[in-house]
Amino acid sequence: MLKDDNRKGMLEKVLKENDYQESALLEILHKAQEIYGYLDKNLLTYVANVLKLPPSHVFGVATFYSYFKLKAPGQHVVTGCLGTACYVKEVEDIMSAIENEFNVKRGGSTSDGKLSLFMTRCIGACAMAPNIIVDDEVIGKATKEVVLERIKLALEGGASA
Ligand code: FES
Repeated sequence: MLKDDNRKGMLEKVLKENDYQESALLEILHKAQEIYGYLDKNLLTYVANVLKLPPSHVFGVATFYSYFKLKAPGQHVVTGCLGTACYVKEVEDIMSAIENEFNVKRGGSTSDGKLSLFMTRCIGACAMAPNIIVDDEVIGKATKEVVLERIKLALEGGASA
């Protein structure tokens, strides 16, 4: 199940703009990655269902192109919004703090593969900037302290996203 949040609304708009055409799959996956920062099983299954395509086809396309960033099952994912409003509210500081604290680079994962750090553009919640998404939880008006604590909790809990 894809979480019902702003990002899902933005993805639905993209699907509609592309007339739900299977020929637009690459463009749709491209935009989906811009919105979410990565592609995961839920997201790919959702796109497959909406476009009435076999999930295996959509998974195949997503894994074929190295451009697409895939979230491995069991990984925890932190995604920073680097849109203008969040940038102005110094989301960069939080991203750097995450990189330093967990020894992870944006676009990459920790050496144990438990945490990945991705970036997205505006998720449509500028009033709450800066926004950081930890697994599926959007943390608005985020501070370094809150975000680092939330990530530690996720890693200690061991639950997957
Ligand atoms: S720029 Fe981050 S939510 Fe709009």
